[in-house]
Amino acid sequence: MSDGFDGLANPDGLEGVVAANTVLSEVDGQAGRLIIRGHDLDELAGRTSFEQVTRLLWDGFFDGLPADLGPALAAARVEVFSEVSALDTGLLDRTPIEGMRALTARLADGDSLQAALRLIAAPAVFTAAMVRAQAGEAPVRPDLSLGHAADALRMLRGKPASQAEVEALDTYLVTVSDHGLNASTFTARVIASTQAGLTSAVLGGISALKGPLHGGAPGPVIEMLDGIGTPANARAWIEAALARGDRLMGFGHRVYRVRDPRADALKAAVRKLTEGAGATPGRLAFAEAVEAAALAILKERKPDRSLQTNVEFYTALLLEALAYPPSAFTCVFATGRVAGWVAHAREQVMGGRLIRPASRYVGPMPKKAA
Ligand code: ACO
Repeated sequence: MSDGFDGLANPDGLEGVVAANTVLSEVDGQAGRLIIRGHDLDELAGRTSFEQVTRLLWDGFFDGLPADLGPALAAARVEVFSEVSALDTGLLDRTPIEGMRALTARLADGDSLQAALRLIAAPAVFTAAMVRAQAGEAPVRPDLSLGHAADALRMLRGKPASQAEVEALDTYLVTVSDHGLNASTFTARVIASTQAGLTSAVLGGISALKGPLHGGAPGPVIEMLDGIGTPANARAWIEAALARGDRLMGFGHRVYRVRDPRADALKAAVRKLTEGAGATPGRLAFAEAVEAAALAILKERKPDRSLQTNVEFYTALLLEALAYPPSAFTCVFATGRVAGWVAHAREQVMGGRLIRPASRYVGPMPKKAA
């Protein structure tokens, strides 16, 4: 391409640009600290349920928010389950996130608490239905008596999960519930700023999340671990991947220059879950060996850019231990992050203005005016 096309890509990717004020979360990339509505991540992860952190994020953004979101969210799961009948063979050929997104798109747009709850319910219900349908199994109806994490696992498997598994999924959903102005949240805020409605904002969030540079990374982490196979093979495999120009999934971050605090929260959750029976022996130790090799090689290759483990590396281990297929990992990420997307969309609508930045024209001028 000529005519200045080489100059089209924005080389800085808006790095460091402050595009919103928010009360929702703060990502301190130098300190490796994540604050969600006044709480450090370690005060929330493993200590609160997904319903509680959603309540925390939504406080002040909806009228009539109940103190306990559990019953209303369970009712919303039952309500959206009726959309599962729209899963047809065309959708079953798609990836789980494409199928889950298509079913979510069937929900009416709106800004009410009910609309918001349906959107929180949607990824859990539709992911389970999609995964089961792709395996030739019938969908499982939501259970009004269960918490969101417990029901998400039960709908996936067709039988109740253990308390340890429910706690692990709750820890995951809370850990990823919000994270500043990441790509999907920014997308959701841009859409919300046009007053398009919450479903539109969430669909934008899902679409941005699915890319491998954002929420699509954990499935490929499993491919990397399986490709490496043994710790002794790690260096050779990683060097060959980097020589091909590949990026190592689960490493690097736009904001963190130190270790992503979510990586440690999830690693602790994997350890807690897999210390019991049923875990693949040595899987965590193997992953730690691969992580150490990757960090050493990235440091050798990019000594000036601190490339550390991000949330996706131990997301992969945790969701694998919970028996989610890697193809559905990004759907589970959306199941947690949707709480943040909705909160940001409401914050944008209630206090913000249409988001409409400018671009710099670097193309040719019309001959007459040149
Ligand atoms: N593997 C190999 N090289 C990397 C990696 C990686 N994981 N991450 C960054 N680099 C390289 C870049 O290619 C770049 O090299 P160059 O200067 O020679 O072009 C250099 O390090 C600097 O990159 P950054 O400016 O730090 O990267 P950026 O901020 O644009 O991207 C991103 C951040 C997308 C997360 C990147 O680190 C990456 O692609 N990681 C792998 C995918 C991944 O794990 N995504 C999940 C992120 S967490 C989340 O979104 C929930």
